[in-house]
Amino acid sequence: MKFRNKIITFSAAVVLLGCTAIAAAPFGGDDSVDYAKDLWALMVKHNLAGKDAIMTRPYTGMPPHGMILELLEQKVTLHDVTGELVVKRNYGGDGLMIGDVINSPDKYLQAITVMFRREAGYDSDNNDWFYAKYAPDGSLMNNPKGMALAGRVAKGMPTGCIACHQGAEGGDFIFNHDRYK
Ligand code: HEC
Repeated sequence: MKFRNKIITFSAAVVLLGCTAIAAAPFGGDDSVDYAKDLWALMVKHNLAGKDAIMTRPYTGMPPHGMILELLEQKVTLHDVTGELVVKRNYGGDGLMIGDVINSPDKYLQAITVMFRREAGYDSDNNDWFYAKYAPDGSLMNNPKGMALAGRVAKGMPTGCIACHQGAEGGDFIFNHDRYK
């Protein structure tokens, strides 16, 4: 009887642990998806995305982001947290030139990859960045396993947003500059 109780306690612990693991999924969970939706709405409000988005002069990029890129940065407030928002527009297409993108940005826009610095403690090992990858219409893109690319994307995995960005010089996870150290 005692032994049976132990088994029951053990099974309950396993179930509990399993639930905690799901609740604490580093990315792609409901919390992250909802947060990414609010972030997209904020980007549209600030003209960083959507049909009235500010256009800058695109530059030539490198993989894994697009052939041609645009970068916009602004401090914004989401859910009472004010942080840096970095928006990268990724353009692609065969033999694509900067002039093509300037003249028809919508035709070549493939994805919008975003980093937003959330509240301290959100992801202290990784400078509290929230990552998201959106399709041009604002819907979230998925990884090959069907997980939405939003949150602490691919935390602990050998490839993906965090694994690659942690190699950025300055230790701020940002490649283009070291202002957010
Ligand atoms: C294999 C490496 C790699 C992966 C994976 C990667 N990035 Fe990047 N990312 C870069 C490099 C290199 C740059 C800077 C060069 C450039 O402008 O493309 C960059 C630039 C950026 C920037 C502009 C800020 C900066 O760091 O300069 C954002 C925002 C961004 N990436 C978001 C993401 C998101 C979101 C993901 C995951 C969905 C992701 N990246 C995955 C390498 C990577």
